[in-house]
Amino acid sequence: MSIKKISKDQPKDFVFDDKSLKAVNKAISNYPKNRQQSAVMSLLYIAQKQNDNWIPLAAMKLIAKTLNMPYIKVYEVATFYTMYNLAPVGEYFFQVCTTTPCMIRGAYKLVDVCKKKISKNESVISKDGKFSWLEVECLGACVNSPMIQINEDYFEDLDPDKLEKIIDKINNNEKPIPGSYRGRLSSEPENIRKTLLNNKNA
Ligand code: FES
Repeated sequence: MSIKKISKDQPKDFVFDDKSLKAVNKAISNYPKNRQQSAVMSLLYIAQKQNDNWIPLAAMKLIAKTLNMPYIKVYEVATFYTMYNLAPVGEYFFQVCTTTPCMIRGAYKLVDVCKKKISKNESVISKDGKFSWLEVECLGACVNSPMIQINEDYFEDLDPDKLEKIIDKINNNEKPIPGSYRGRLSSEPENIRKTLLNNKNA
């Protein structure tokens, strides 16, 4: 269960840069006229991406104005979903899924690694500013559990040793490779296939 933390240090203003503005207009154009409020989640994501992976309150106010909707409604969406960070996060932001499939496959051992190598408590940035971690609900990769998301990449089929090695790699300025850490290409069975044996393309 993650705790939503809103930063006490807030910038006074927020403006979309040119790249974000293009993405904002594209997101709004996906919806019919007078239904632009449907783009609220996309705009929150665009603001987060522009602002080092967290959304200041000024960005929510700008989004409310852009979409012609009450600020409180934008705030409600931003505070509901764990995918939106409302306070600064580490340069490498670890989201550890602890929902049932990941939990029964050892997710809390991964949480222990984060506590040991990053910070004792979630949402606290490591002393070097490089890492922070958060416990989250299902990220949709249950078949390759336990897994974590680091920034925009999924790291799957993990165990504590493998996670420690990923953190060490980042500390050595190397880029860890996303995907399965038990050598699976996607979510196919390990070892020999036991079902759909007569189906060549299964
Ligand atoms: S339960 Fe962890 S990805 Fe679904």
